[in-house]
Amino acid sequence: MANSDTPLKVLVTGATGYIGRRLVERLLTDSTIAIRVLVRNKNKLQAAVTDKVEIVEGDTFDEECLKLALEGVDTAFYLIHSMGSDKDYQDLDRKSADNFRRACIAAGARRIVYLGGLGVKESASKHLMSRIETGEILSEEPDKIQTIWLRAGVIIGSGSASFEIIRNLVQKLPAMITPKWVKTLTQPVGIEDVLSYLAACIRLKEDADQIVDIGAETLSFKDMMRQASEVMGLRRYLIPVPVLSPRLSSYWLILFTPVPVKLAAALVEGLKSETTLQNDNARRLFPEIEPASYRKSVEYAIEELEQNQVVSRWCDSSGNTACDIKDYDNPAGAILRDIREVELNNISPESVFSSVCSLGGDQGWYRYTILWRARGFIDKIFGGFGLNRGRRMNGEVRIGDALDFWKVADVKTNKRLLLYAQMKIPGKAWLEFDIHEDKLIQTAHFLPRGVWGRLYWYSVLPLHYFVFRDLAKKIVLHAKEI
Ligand SMILES: NC(=O)c1ccc[n+]([C@@H]2O[C@H](COP(=O)([O-])OP(=O)(O)OC[C@H]3O[C@@H](n4cnc5c(N)ncnc54)[C@H](OP(=O)(O)O)[C@@H]3O)[C@@H](O)[C@H]2O)c1
Repeated sequence: MANSDTPLKVLVTGATGYIGRRLVERLLTDSTIAIRVLVRNKNKLQAAVTDKVEIVEGDTFDEECLKLALEGVDTAFYLIHSMGSDKDYQDLDRKSADNFRRACIAAGARRIVYLGGLGVKESASKHLMSRIETGEILSEEPDKIQTIWLRAGVIIGSGSASFEIIRNLVQKLPAMITPKWVKTLTQPVGIEDVLSYLAACIRLKEDADQIVDIGAETLSFKDMMRQASEVMGLRRYLIPVPVLSPRLSSYWLILFTPVPVKLAAALVEGLKSETTLQNDNARRLFPEIEPASYRKSVEYAIEELEQNQVVSRWCDSSGNTACDIKDYDNPAGAILRDIREVELNNISPESVFSSVCSLGGDQGWYRYTILWRARGFIDKIFGGFGLNRGRRMNGEVRIGDALDFWKVADVKTNKRLLLYAQMKIPGKAWLEFDIHEDKLIQTAHFLPRGVWGRLYWYSVLPLHYFVFRDLAKKIVLHAKEI
């Protein structure tokens, strides 16, 4: 360990994901720690941290980059998973964990801290099984490196997938037909407590490997929905039915919550089995942390949403589909385009940029809301995100943010916003806003995939004509009022 005057070097992987982003912000409050992050695209990092941390760009499949990232590191946080990938994510997760452990040992790191899922192998879903395997691989050589493996079930925080599901169901449905799994027991934990446990692992005075289950009180999902509705001041009715298959339950989630089909199916699969603490190591090793009740965590999450202070969301990570791959921020290869130009007539580029950055979410897309909603609905039917993801914060965008069915692929303050389409379409699409001194140029770019791609583009051309024409005009009109 470094002497007490030298800051302890800590590596945070997954620093553009839900947990990692928040952990970096938490660790920045500790001046005895020097933070290094390993990220696949450094442009995705929030501005508040970029000049306060050391950044290594790359991934866990690149040996050289791991070597660089781990040099001189005492504690290495492993906050990565490959679930969003189209490839076999279990295999990727195994390789990634194996590479990471080997690289940590080679670099002489003292400790790996990993956050996995709560639950037992016997009833584990495919996703949880992969999380368990990752923990096992990371802790495969206890004589060479110590691993602290935290295990959490449902995490309650603004923007977490579980919380967003509960919040959306409770807000949108006065009465709910509920499947059997709402009686399954779990021990949710607030995100602030998760961060406290993770941060406390750095100074833990234990040399042996540890598996630490974390969570607050035991509740069923029904209790969680009921308490959440009480916190939100809403009266809700839950009507249990004996048969509601996992498949039907996931369709239910797709329709009423922001999660896409793959994630909904994985979550429902996970909800079928109990996720309660299997050990009391959290109390033994971290007696100073008293986890907040579920109700308190819900209150806190809602407060963050109301104050427009959401640091990270479940859809921050790229799932190997955008933003971690650099080509997504360049639509030059597109071959079909809809270009609109609107004169600014003395409206400042700053105001136009603000107007562009307020698109989506509750604010919507100015006109033809019904068409945007219909497009979102069709996207949901085909397994996409639809419009339900909304936006992280009003008025602020950063690269990697989800914005309805788009991902923010590039932001140049007062000059450019580039959105990459994550909707289900036969090709690749971008929506670009280029702001000049005297005009706004809005371009919809499309790279069709085969004949279906071209048919799609030409069939929606009449709709695009009105929607895109009016969008550009309205952005400038709105800028006038800013
Ligand atoms: N969130 C929860 O509710 C929850 C609950 C229980 C346990 N956990 C555990 O917490 C850990 C972190 O989860 P999370 O929710 O923060 O995940 P997340 O939001 O999906 O973020 C995953 C992060 O990993 C990065 N990443 C993926 N593959 C990588 C690779 N090969 N090399 C480098 N970076 C890579 C992603 O980068 P890009 O941004 O480039 O995609 C992203 O930053 C996981 O082990 C998860 O099982 C989470």
